[in-house]
Parts: sequence; structure tokens; C-alpha cells
Amino acid sequence: MGASGSGKTSMRSMIFSNNPASLTSRLGATIDVEQNHVRFLGDLILNLWDCGGQDAFMDSYLTTQRPTIFSHVGVMIYVFDVETREMNKDLEYYRDCLEGLTQFSKEANVFLLVHKMDLVREGERAIVFQRKVAELEKASGETAVKVYGTSIFDESLYKAWSSIVNTLIPNARNLSKHLRIFAEACSATEVVLFERTTFLVIATSSPADSSESFSSDPVAVHALDPKRYERTSELIKSFKQSCSRLREEFNSLELELAEFTAVLDEMTKNTYVLVVVHNPVIETAAIKMNIQMARRKFE
Ligand code: GTP
Repeated sequence: MGASGSGKTSMRSMIFSNNPASLTSRLGATIDVEQNHVRFLGDLILNLWDCGGQDAFMDSYLTTQRPTIFSHVGVMIYVFDVETREMNKDLEYYRDCLEGLTQFSKEANVFLLVHKMDLVREGERAIVFQRKVAELEKASGETAVKVYGTSIFDESLYKAWSSIVNTLIPNARNLSKHLRIFAEACSATEVVLFERTTFLVIATSSPADSSESFSSDPVAVHALDPKRYERTSELIKSFKQSCSRLREEFNSLELELAEFTAVLDEMTKNTYVLVVVHNPVIETAAIKMNIQMARRKFE
């Protein structure tokens, strides 16, 4: 949901159809609701509704189509253009959508994206974002919301969408537990599981919302970049696009640097795993063999 031109179809086409940001300017306005069924992790099907944001459509969602639009909602993602001049109108529609959810899908999670953050000058981003968060939390009243600043031109989009999709994966916690055991077996600093086509993060061996690493060696605490997950998603996705332009298929990746070794390889039919090891004694081949041995368990 969100006003016309706020960027809903652009982000959908980047995450789920692997289109580059440069092509989004060619997208036309969405007419009424575009429904997509995205196969995610094999058996899980995401039913994605991209609701065109022109006023006439919004009015219809909130009146005649109200029960259709707001019933059986798992997550509502409301996109706000950070530079909009019509914030009051946006907020009015947003509050009405929240009421629709309260009426028909009480349990739905609500994510708010303050989008096109790239249009704000770098030095002012944090303050502008904080102001928007306060404004949106106030407008949300009693409803708990998660707010993310996003842009199609950087990794922020992957952070928000990984978090959104995570709320829909039934066994995400369980997966993290198994990844922790796997990380320990590999003496890895961290293990991350990505969904195959979107490259969104499904689970990590580190505790949720923590920038600290899990390590089997308590002495080896490595400073890890808090943006590492979404940056990896973004980088690998661009790399996959480059591979497909050269008609090559992306299979796996190995990095052996002085400070660490990283292996990215298929874990299951629908996932890739990234194993990062800071111990120079551990050979890449050993990590690959561990991945191979763990496949059956994770499938
Ligand atoms: P409706 O279909 O009418 O509801 O609009 P929409 O919300 O789907 O907007 P759409 O995705 O078509 O994007 C509108 C324009 O915003 C396009 O030209 C995109 O290239 C541009 N856009 C999308 N995301 C970003 C962003 O993060 N930053 C900037 N600068 N432009 C963006």
C-alpha cells in the first residue's frame, strides 16, 4: 500500500523479479491490484498484492473492496515517499487502512517504509528518518509498527524485506538454532542462510538484531559490520545479474583472504549458505565438505 509513485512496484520488481534499479523508471502506474504468487522456500507461497496508489483506487479499496483487500492479511507494507508534499493525505489513507486491518486481519504485522531515502542529503538522513518515525508511530496509535528507511539504490531495501519475509517463515527460529550448531561445527564466525532467488536473508547463526558475531571461540570476537547481511544480498544479486548477462550460471563463490575465508554455496534446493571463518588453519575444502554433509539435514 502507499501513494501513487511512492515506489511499491519498483521494489517488488527488484526483489522478486530481479530487475535492476535503473529499469524501474520505465514502470507504468499500477492499475487496481496486481497479484503475484511468489514461490519462496519451495512450499511457502507468498501472495503479494501490489495495490495501485492513485486516489480512485485507494478510495475503492477502502469502501467497496474493503473486505477483499483487508481480509487474510499476513503483513501490510505501507510505503511513504520521504519527499512527499502530501503527507497529510498519505497519513489519512494510512489510518484508514489500519482501521481496515483492525476490522478484518487483527493479527497482521505492519511495516512502514520511508522510501527514496537516497533523495535526502546524506548528512540529514538520520534526522529526517527519526522525524518520520516519530510522525508515523504517532499516526499508528496503539498498533505496533516497524519502520525502515529504504532506497532502491542501496542495500537498505534488502534489510527491510528480509525482516518482512522473516515474519512469514514459520520455522525461522528453529533454522537459526540449527545454523548455530552448524557454525560451531565449522568453527565459523558466522553462518547466513539466503533464499535462492531473492537472496533475502532467511536466518543467521547470530542472535536476531545483534551485530555481534556468534563464535565457537569465545576469545575470537570479530567486529562485524551491522549492514553485512543486506550488503551481501545486494552484492550477490548484482553479481548474479552480471553472470546472467554473460550467459553464465551462478553456482558458488569462495574467498580466501588474509583475515578470513568465506564460502557461499547451495545448501538446499531453495537456499544458499554463506560460511565465514576467521581461523586460518581451516581449509576451504573442509568448509565445503561440511556444507555438503549438512545438506540433507537442512533440506
Ligand atoms: P503506483 O503503481 O501508481 O501505485 O506507483 P508505485 O508506488 O508502484 O511507484 P513505482 O514503483 O512505479 O515508482 C515510481 C517512480 O519512483 C519510478 O520512476 C521509480 O524509478 C522511482 N523510485 C522507486 N524507488 C525509488 C527510490 O528508492 N529512490 C528514487 N530516487 N526513486 C525511486
